[in-house]
Amino acid sequence: MPALDDSDFGVQTPLSPVKSRDSNRLQRISSRNSAQLAVGSHGTISIPADGLHSNSIEVPATRSSISDAQAYMHSLSLSPSMKERRASRNSFGAALPIPRSKRQSRLSSVHYPDGRPTRPGMPPVQPSRDIIAAQIQDLSGEKVRAAKDMAFVFDIDGVLVHGDRLIPEGRRVLEILNGDNELGIKIPHIFLTNGSGKPEMPRVQQLSKILHSPISTDQFIQSHTPMRALAEYYKTVLVVGGEGYKCREVAEQYGFEDIIVPNDIVAWDPSIAPYRVFTEEERATSRPRDFSKVNIEAIMVFSDSRDYATDMQIIMDLLRSENGRLGTVAKDSVSQRIPIYFSQGDLLCPTEHPIPRMSQGTFRIGLEAMYKALTGVDLERVVYGKPELATYKYADEVIASWMEQIHNDEVLPSNIYMIGDNPQSDIIGGNMYGWNTCLVKTGVYQGEGNDKENPASFGVFKNVLEAVQTAIRKELGKDFRFEFDERINPVLHGNGVSAIE
Ligand code: G3P
Ligand code: MG
Repeated sequence: MPALDDSDFGVQTPLSPVKSRDSNRLQRISSRNSAQLAVGSHGTISIPADGLHSNSIEVPATRSSISDAQAYMHSLSLSPSMKERRASRNSFGAALPIPRSKRQSRLSSVHYPDGRPTRPGMPPVQPSRDIIAAQIQDLSGEKVRAAKDMAFVFDIDGVLVHGDRLIPEGRRVLEILNGDNELGIKIPHIFLTNGSGKPEMPRVQQLSKILHSPISTDQFIQSHTPMRALAEYYKTVLVVGGEGYKCREVAEQYGFEDIIVPNDIVAWDPSIAPYRVFTEEERATSRPRDFSKVNIEAIMVFSDSRDYATDMQIIMDLLRSENGRLGTVAKDSVSQRIPIYFSQGDLLCPTEHPIPRMSQGTFRIGLEAMYKALTGVDLERVVYGKPELATYKYADEVIASWMEQIHNDEVLPSNIYMIGDNPQSDIIGGNMYGWNTCLVKTGVYQGEGNDKENPASFGVFKNVLEAVQTAIRKELGKDFRFEFDERINPVLHGNGVSAIE
C-alpha cells in the first residue's frame, strides 16, 4: 500500500453542509467547482467539467493517481517523452467524487435480525422503557451531551465478524450502543468496510442477522458506496468483480445508465477470452451486443475478480483501445485511454484459508505491471476505500446524517473512534483524518504491542468490546454502567436515593 503522509490529508477544502463541534479538526467537504479540476481539453482523460454534477462533491485525491507498479517491478523502460505528456495532461485522479447526499434515499432501509420494521436504528418500541430512559436522560445532562458528542466507526471484517461468523464481543457492543447502557441512550455509530460485491441492502440484512442488532443502510458504507457519485460522470461503464451479476445490480442501484459486465463481452465475442469456459447459463444470462460500436467511458472495479484471466484481458484491451472501443488499439496510450476506478486497495484479505488471500490491491498491481510492460506508460487510476481521504470525508457526512436520525441534530460529534483490525487501512486512515484509532487483535493484526508503522492513537485492544468500553469510560466517566436497569425509578434514581434533592 503506498505510504501517505500528513500533508496528503492537510488539503483545505471548502464548506460542507455538516456542522462540526470541532472546526479545527474537521476539514469541510468541498462542493468544489469541477471545472477547476478537469480541464477537459482535447485528447485528455478527465472527469467532465460541465458543472452539471450537482449531486457530487469532489474530494482531492490523497494517493497518487499514477500506478505504483514501479515499486514492484524490475526497471521497465519509460520513454522520456512520456514525462512531458504526463505533465501536460489533466489527471482524472486529481479528485474523487463522493455523493453530496449522505442518505442513500432509494437504498435506505433498516434491517432487524428478525425482520420486523421499526424506527431507524432504534430498538423495538417499548413505551415504558423509553419513558424511563427519557427521564434518566433528563437528570443526566452532562453525560447525555458527552454520549451525543462521541461516535464509533466500525470496520467490519476482523472486528465484528469473520465473513459470516460472529465475533461474540461485536454483538454485545451493538447492544450497548443501541441503548443497553445506564442512560438507555443510543450512542452514534456507523460501519465503514472495504468489503464489496453486493448491494447495501442485502449486505446490511446479512450483517444485522449475524450481529443480532438492527442496522440501517444509512449508517453503512462499503468500499463502492461513495462511487455512486460517479454515475453523474459516466453513462456507459464496464463493471468488474463480484459473484454472478451482483455488481451489475449495485451499479444499477447507484444510477449508472448503461452497465456492461465482462460476461456481456465474452458472449458477444468468445475469442476475446481464449481460456474462458463459458457456460450455457452464463450465455443465457448475459447481455451481448455489438461492442465494436460502443464507447465504454470508464472501468469500475467494484469487487474482487472471479476470473483474473478474462477480466484482466478485457480491462487491458479497453485501456489500450481508442477511447474505450473494443477491437481498436490507441495510437496514443495516454490521451485515448479511458479512466479506471477501484473500490479499494487492500492487498490481502483474511478468509477461511490459513494464509490471507489476494484482494483487489494485488489484482490492481497486476494490471498496472501488465499495462506498463505492454505500453511503457504508467497507468493512472483512482482507488476508493480506506485509507483514502474521500472515504473518510464521506463517513463524516454519514455520521452527521445519522445523528439527525437518532438524535434530531445533524452535527458531527467531536470525539470519533475508529475501531479496526488493519493498521494499513483502518488505522492509518483514521490517524491521518484526526480520529481516535483503536486497533483490535481479532483480525489482520496479530503483532505484539502497537503497530510500529501505523500505531493506533487510542491503543491496542484484545477485542472490540474492550475498545468500546474504554472509549466510553473516557468520555462518560470511569463508573459508567454498560447496562440499562429498567427497575430504576428516575425520581429515586436507583437504590432508593432521590435524584432530585
Ligand atoms: O479486504 C476486503 C474486506 O474483506 C475488508 O473488510 O471490513 O475489514 O474493511 P473490512
Ligand atoms: Mg477489517
